[in-house]
Amino acid sequence: MAANVDLSTNVAGVKLPNLFYNASGVMCQTEKELNQLIESDSGALITKSATFLPREGNPSPRYTALPNGIGSINSMGLPNEGYEYYLNFAKNYNYNNSKGKPLFISLSGLSVQDNVNMITAFNDADLPCILEVNFSCPNVPGKPQLGYDFEGMENALTVLAPLIKKPFGIKLPPYFDIAHFDIAANIFNKFENLAYVTCINSVGNGLAIDVETEQVLVKPKDGFGGLGGLMVLNTALANVNAFYRRLSPGKQVIGVGGVTSGKEAFMHVLAGASAVQIGTTLKEEGEGCFTRISKELSEIMASKGYKTLDDFRGKVKTP
Ligand code: DHB
Repeated sequence: MAANVDLSTNVAGVKLPNLFYNASGVMCQTEKELNQLIESDSGALITKSATFLPREGNPSPRYTALPNGIGSINSMGLPNEGYEYYLNFAKNYNYNNSKGKPLFISLSGLSVQDNVNMITAFNDADLPCILEVNFSCPNVPGKPQLGYDFEGMENALTVLAPLIKKPFGIKLPPYFDIAHFDIAANIFNKFENLAYVTCINSVGNGLAIDVETEQVLVKPKDGFGGLGGLMVLNTALANVNAFYRRLSPGKQVIGVGGVTSGKEAFMHVLAGASAVQIGTTLKEEGEGCFTRISKELSEIMASKGYKTLDDFRGKVKTP
């Protein structure tokens, strides 16, 4: 780590020793994987999106990296251990023995009522974890992404935000139209305890084809799956910056998409990210990526004379 560089940050009023953690879905389904994250140099951890009941997910192959480092495609279909497993993990999470890392819990109910039931159980347990509601899983057949249904998303937030009471976050799909950034941000600004948005979930329903076999690369949904990795970087940066510019003061953006090195992480913070998650690179490289990318970001900051993330967060310039 370059000397005199501080990578710590705050999300939803909670301190992270550094800005990096896993993108939900990667290395976070089982306790064993979550413990790997605790041991790693990440600054936090987030669990796999939980449904009310455990799910096996879609048939395999359901994830693959794509050639030439461009990224990945997945159609996992929400395999997870069910919310009670993650509730138990949160109850047993030892904040004194986890290198100061906050625990984020991702919830992805298949209905608003499922989210209500899961949130109620977390409320009853009264834990210091931060809840993140996922409005953007693209891979469950027959379940559209709520993030693309503005009325449905506002109705869900109207029910869930007062129930959660504490500061919470939401995971968003990528948007591709300025009018949609405006509409979505207007909705989010109505909810005071909505503390942050995480941008972006995978770019939904891409298709990857192998020339030799003439086959699609993942089995579920005739090969349609969420795209991640370097190919989504610029869409991710646009979403981070669009919401950074539009959200009310105090609300934050967490950046995710296309981070393979310190350089892309630096771009995410310049665009406005308060923390940065790593998905495809973590899946392909393993948890050593946190050590490497932290070092690379520190070196970029040191070379530019930046000592903290606040020195350049959101300060991207227009020529
Ligand atoms: C899955 C994919 C997502 O992008 C998401 O937000 C939640 C779940 C999945 O396929 O398991």
